[in-house]
Amino acid sequence: MGEALKFPDGFYWGTATASHQVEGGCRNNQWWAWEQEGGNIKDGTTSGIACDHYNRFDEDFALQRELGHNSHRFSIEWSRIEPEEGRWDGKEVDHYKRVLESLHKHGLTPFVTLHHFTNPIWFEDQGGWTSPKAPDLLERFAGHMAKELGDAVPFWLTINEPPVLPAASYIAGVHPPAKRDFRLAMKAAKNILLSLGRMHNAIRANAPHKPIIGPVINMTYVMPASDSDDDKEAAQSFDQYWNGYWLDGIRDGIIGPPAGDGESVDGLKGAWDIIGLNYYSRSVIAKAGGVMGLRQIPPPMDSERSTMGWEVYPEGFYQNMLRLKQYGKPVYITENGIGTDDDGQRCSYVVRHLREVHRAIQNGVDVRSYLHWSSTDNFEWAEGYRQKFGLIATEGDDLKRVPKPSAYVFKEMAEANAVTEGLAEQYLE
Ligand code: NOJ
Repeated sequence: MGEALKFPDGFYWGTATASHQVEGGCRNNQWWAWEQEGGNIKDGTTSGIACDHYNRFDEDFALQRELGHNSHRFSIEWSRIEPEEGRWDGKEVDHYKRVLESLHKHGLTPFVTLHHFTNPIWFEDQGGWTSPKAPDLLERFAGHMAKELGDAVPFWLTINEPPVLPAASYIAGVHPPAKRDFRLAMKAAKNILLSLGRMHNAIRANAPHKPIIGPVINMTYVMPASDSDDDKEAAQSFDQYWNGYWLDGIRDGIIGPPAGDGESVDGLKGAWDIIGLNYYSRSVIAKAGGVMGLRQIPPPMDSERSTMGWEVYPEGFYQNMLRLKQYGKPVYITENGIGTDDDGQRCSYVVRHLREVHRAIQNGVDVRSYLHWSSTDNFEWAEGYRQKFGLIATEGDDLKRVPKPSAYVFKEMAEANAVTEGLAEQYLE
């Protein structure tokens, strides 16, 4: 017999999106430019009109409310706000003011991300994250937005998935500028960590109220491929890059390995009120040749996987939340979800992952939100539209929003503030 798993009062239930993936027409950033080159997006699509969310946000938020959500995470497209260096576009600021008004009107608490993978083209042309000017530019952008949007924003999220930025753009070469250069990756990693501190402080200094501010760290759960010392060491350095560098870096105010030697940085220590956590899967690591001396072992053929090829591993979600307890900050799940064509798998995924959130809370982790990735199916970066992460499909030329069965599973939980008895019985052993 399933038993209901109750969440704390005031828990946030919602979805997360990012400007470039849903708005459409984000022409001024490096992703748009890269898509136009052709051959860079696996399924041959380009972001194009995306979900046309730029025009349809009010209708989207109304639907999310109907589906039981009480919160929503979205990102501000920097390249709209500052299309040329130092020139602010007030019309675009007004756009995001309307977005925030609409969220409040529909009873959705906003979580606002300032940087979600996209760079204005002028910034990318200067070297993007590898430019020594990056922390200054990001600080200025954050301060501008905090002043402009003021108390309409209760939660600011500074940078989305810091570890992905250098790794995808300068190590794996699968995001623009698609380079493979470890030295550049480390430059970027250092500037991103510095920017996390600078943006936090700029928001604090410029917001007219006292918003809650934090980074969005995408932790992976790292395991060595075997008991050998080599594999354990390789797993440790992977974990240090992916998790420890950012978390310990902000807690202690230092640039640790692999991008630094532990040198202290002014203003970075403790520059977070909360920790945003994105979780998708685990990483099994073995020693190997190559830049970092390691490689990731693909999941076994008989494991449950997503269409992205990622192993479904809810236990790692729990372990990561537990690890965050030592940092003494509230944890907000800012993303968790699955690319799949089988919505039944999504239903089961979401219930099983919420069980882990519940378990973490029972074990003393202060988790306050679960924002599912994503609301509508959208542009999955270098994978294109092929990957379906949404609770809601967009169908036909008019991109009609059609909630999937998983949207109703989510609604049942959000409205009950619990994994209900019925869902526990259906999806949990
Ligand atoms: C992480 C990213 O923040 C988001 O942009 C992406 O679409 C999802 N994960 C799924 O890969």
